[in-house]
Amino acid sequence: MSKVTVVGAGKYGSTTAQRIAEWDIVDEVVMTDIVEGLPQGLALDMNQSRPVVGYRTKVIGTNDYADTAGSDVVVITAGLPRKPGMSRMDLLGVNAGIVKAVTEEIVRYSPDAVIIVVTNPLDQMTTLAAEVSGFPKNRVLGQAGMLDSARFAHFISETADVDILDVTAVTLGSHGETMVPVPSMCSVGDKPLSDVLDADTIDELVDRTRNGGAEIVAFLKTGSAYYAPSAAAAAMVRAVVEDSGAEMPVCAWMEGQYGIEDVYLGVMAKIGANGVEQVIEADLTDEEVAGLREAAVAVAAKVADLEQIDL
Ligand code: LAC
Repeated sequence: MSKVTVVGAGKYGSTTAQRIAEWDIVDEVVMTDIVEGLPQGLALDMNQSRPVVGYRTKVIGTNDYADTAGSDVVVITAGLPRKPGMSRMDLLGVNAGIVKAVTEEIVRYSPDAVIIVVTNPLDQMTTLAAEVSGFPKNRVLGQAGMLDSARFAHFISETADVDILDVTAVTLGSHGETMVPVPSMCSVGDKPLSDVLDADTIDELVDRTRNGGAEIVAFLKTGSAYYAPSAAAAAMVRAVVEDSGAEMPVCAWMEGQYGIEDVYLGVMAKIGANGVEQVIEADLTDEEVAGLREAAVAVAAKVADLEQIDL
């Protein structure tokens, strides 16, 4: 019997719930939101798609955290998305209050859950959820690296005109200005990326990846991306539920890897039933490690800002 809760029935939350349900890997997906009727209506609609798509998992829509009790995994999507021109950091104050309140409810009803945070600014909100929950740090992680890596892979595939499924791409660091796309870990088929694209083109794609979220916000005008973000979050949920040990880039607590500690940062990690089973220290170039350290300093500074806010 496994149960996943998705907090927030906006686009990100509802598409995450839908993807998990359609995989038919858990008994129940609970989707909760403060807006009355929204999660209930979406859940009813999703459940009616089951005979067509062919899966059994039921989605429960609710405004009551009691219905989330005993969840194995909780995904926090609650919070405001960006508007055009805003950075993820502009959301710090308002989303911090929301994430704190949500985390308290999760701890109350699902004391053994793994928490996956996707609310922006991602690295800070993951830190906040970990602090408020008091959970072991491995049981609180953030989604960003999977999404940013997927964006990078898409841009590589389009630019090099190669099959998207042949592309391996990795981004580490923060989900923001100090994102660290890692060309040395990228490949197309059995070739390193540097054999397929020249250095200037790779640099351009790195920049576009860093701004990948803003590019979509500028098109949408109201709200931010959700198809690729929800695919990434659902993949993390799956790794936990199936205890697969899948290796993926996630926002994880650092304990000395790359000489970085006491901060949440995007790194490769093995994901299983306990959340982050192990942070993997990849063989990065000196420049990439320097980028990671810079990202760690930037995230720590923003976490310090967070501590100034009276929640
Ligand atoms: C993005 C948001 C979800 O990158 O952070 O699209």
